[in-house]
Amino acid sequence: MIVIGSDHGAFELKSVLVEHLKAKGKEVTDCGVFDATSVDYPDIAKEVCEKVKSGDYEFGILLCGTGIGISIAANKIDGIRCALVCNEYMAEKTKQHNNANVIAMGGRVIGPDLAKNILDAYMNAEFEGGRHQNRIDKIHALEK
Ligand code: RB5
Repeated sequence: MIVIGSDHGAFELKSVLVEHLKAKGKEVTDCGVFDATSVDYPDIAKEVCEKVKSGDYEFGILLCGTGIGISIAANKIDGIRCALVCNEYMAEKTKQHNNANVIAMGGRVIGPDLAKNILDAYMNAEFEGGRHQNRIDKIHALEK
């Protein structure tokens, strides 16, 4: 199961990614938003990240206009490793090295086909563990 949410800057891209995931047979929880009414992206980040932290989801997807604000907000939440991914390489590496549990993209900077490819690159990659786990432990030690 995958959880996704966006602010008003990316609700159209969110629909594209939800359909893409469903076509792959994935169950998706869509936290909204569903239209262009202005909202505050930290509220969306909180809702999606709380679900990721519940352990019921494989990972989370956060979208805003640039992907920047919502990823900054997500990374304030203990236990969240949110990666702003702009291309397939970043998506693959953040899974392999950072084991990001949330990925963020910008609806106003990334087209639908690239976004789908980025999402696929993340989902097709595997965390490599080892020295990378040590570094992740050090990231979370910074929360204390
Ligand atoms: C909303 O206008 C916009 O600021 C937001 O979607 C995002 O780009 C912030 O980083």
